[in-house]
Order: sequence, then structure tokens, then C-alpha cells
Amino acid sequence: MIAMTDSIYWVGVNDRETHLFESMLPIPQGVSYNAYMIVDEKVALIDTVKADYNDTYLDKIKSVIGNRDVDYLVINHIEPDHSGCIKSVVEAYPDVKIVGNKKTANFLEGFYGVTENVLIVKESETLNLGKHELTFFMTPMLHWPETMMTYEGSNKTLFSGDAFGGFGALNGGVFDNEVNFSFYEDEMRRYYANIVGRYSDMVQRALNKLSNIEVQTICSTHGIVWRDNPKQVIDLYDKWSKQEGEDGVVIAYGSMYGNTKAIAEQLARAFAELGIKDIKVYDAARTHMSYILSDIWRYNTVLLGSSTYNSKMFPPMESLLSKMENSKLKNKNIGVFGTYSWSGESVDLLQKLTEQCKIQLFEPTIKNIFAPGSETVDNCKALAKNLVAAMK
Ligand code: FEO
Repeated sequence: MIAMTDSIYWVGVNDRETHLFESMLPIPQGVSYNAYMIVDEKVALIDTVKADYNDTYLDKIKSVIGNRDVDYLVINHIEPDHSGCIKSVVEAYPDVKIVGNKKTANFLEGFYGVTENVLIVKESETLNLGKHELTFFMTPMLHWPETMMTYEGSNKTLFSGDAFGGFGALNGGVFDNEVNFSFYEDEMRRYYANIVGRYSDMVQRALNKLSNIEVQTICSTHGIVWRDNPKQVIDLYDKWSKQEGEDGVVIAYGSMYGNTKAIAEQLARAFAELGIKDIKVYDAARTHMSYILSDIWRYNTVLLGSSTYNSKMFPPMESLLSKMENSKLKNKNIGVFGTYSWSGESVDLLQKLTEQCKIQLFEPTIKNIFAPGSETVDNCKALAKNLVAAMK
């Protein structure tokens, strides 16, 4: 338990055990499940934690309120990493009212069979706890249909659900002025690109809504608590959701025997010769796509290369491309390249994806049979030159 004020507490946990978040995304540095508690005339919990940490969570609550009852459990987001302890809270505090919106109630019944003592709230509705008053803002599809945020007026604190959150367990430092942010920024952007990015339009809608309230502290369900400089994270979310990429290049390739890789190397060199310093080169078979997508989100220029594998793209590139399409990527300048030995579909498939994603494809497309020849160097230079000319 960590006291954030004399009446608001962090009662979250660190997960350093799970390898894959959502059974898919590596979290080598762990993740925190942040939950909060407001102690007033009424006691309110805001979100819970993953079920595996049930005992720790309940112990933290009891360490503050002893034998007092919990009056409300606000569910800003019912994905199980935050709702996993609902049934335990109901068992420990049978009179607790679960606060959510109409869609939350649907999930609550479906996941947990809970239908009683549910308090449905609507947009801007308030709930008085004594000296603290909660106001609820609906933020659907950020990133589930039922997501909402809870604002506590007396401390100007926003409990934001997954929004403004990121990977990385809290290593002692919990608040933004207690940590070196560069690590958390990378892990926040990876979280954003892979989990929230598809819903960037809804992020913009939520930011517009929040612009009408004064926020001094942002309490997400993952990562650090922002109370020194909340504007920093709001600005980052604004940038990421507008998909405003920085000048820089991501080159991702799939190569079976090194020929497509050789083109990737030539392209990287061509960009360096043109003065570009931020160049990230990834073998898609070796680096998890979540890291590649995070850098694709960061920069404005992307080169995608694939050898042809049984008339298709090389499978790791196919996975990356599928994820890119699902993320509704936009505002990127793209070049494609690849090699083949007889049929050569991979580059055509890469081009097709750029059409589906509505991202701009730059010429020349580089497609080599067998090993790249001397003309490939010229093509790489030409493609790099065209892409650099389009940078800011
Ligand atoms: Fe952290 Fe969408 O759950």
C-alpha cells in the first residue's frame, strides 16, 4: 500500500511472473496492475488487480481500513487484469456496490455472474463519498466498449483505466518524479501501439472530453502515477493518437538465407549517407513484433522486406503486416523490398498491404530474383532519397 494523499491509496501489485501479457506480448520487465482506494465517510475501491494477486490486494485494503467495510467498487475497465478480484471483493464485503455503466453490467454478468448490487452510472453522473466526489466520464473503445474514467474533484485526480498506462513493473518509484522516464516511455509506447493504437480516434475523443476538466494527477491501471507533470503524458497521447511520427526509419525484414537482409543493409546505409541518424533495423523472425510496431508508431518512415516463402510472404513478416493492418496505421511513408528464387509474390503482397492500410508507397519498389545485384544499390539509394525528401 502506498499513500498518495491522506485519503487516497495505491493498492496495486507488480507482476514479475507473467511472460506474455494477453498471452501474446512479452513483458520482460513485468507490468503493474494499479488499483486505488479512497477512504472517506464511504470507502471506494477503483478497479482491482489480476486474480493471481487476490490475497495481496485484499491484504493491502485491510492494512488501511482494518475492519471497516468497502462501500463501492468502481470498475473503470473490466478486462480481467483489472477485474480479477471482483468476486473476492464481493465475498469479503457482501454489501459493496459495484459501480459501472450499462455495458459494464453486461460484462459483469457474463464474466462473473454478478447481477446484484450493481450501480449503473451515466456520463457526468456523480457519486459522493463525503469530502470526495467522483464524476464518471464514458470513454468507450479505449480500448473496450465499457471503458470509462473516474474523476475525483477535490484532488483533481483522474483514474483513467488503461489510458496513459504502459508495461514495466514499478521498481520502487511509483510517481513520475521518482523514475527515469526514458524506460517507461518506450514501454508506454509499446503498450499504446499494440493495445490502444487501433482506437486512436477514440483517444482523441477522450482527450477532447478531458480538456474541459483540470487534471493534477493521472492514475492509470498500468505504470507510473502522473502527479508532477501530467501534461507530459497527455501530450504524448495526443501525439501518438494523431500518429504524428518523428523523422526516422524502421527497416523490418524477413530473410531466409540473407538476400533480403542484404537489401535491408543497403537501405540502412543509404539512409545513413543521407544524414538520418534514427535508423532501426529489425529481423522480424528474431524480434517480437510488438517492439517493431512500437518503433513503427514512433517514426514516420517504414521499409518492409520479405523473401517469398511458398508463394507467400515470409511468415514472421506476414504476422507483422497483419498486426500493422489491424492497428489502423496511417501517416507513414513506406518502401517495400524483397527477393525470391522462382515465383516472387512477397513484394506484391507487401504492396497490396500498403493499399489496404492507406499508407503512402514510395518508389522504386525493390524486387530481386536470387541475390541482389549492383543495380540494387542504386535502387536503395533512390528509394532512400525519395523517402528522406518526404520527411519534415
Ligand atoms: Fe489492462 Fe485493457 O486491461
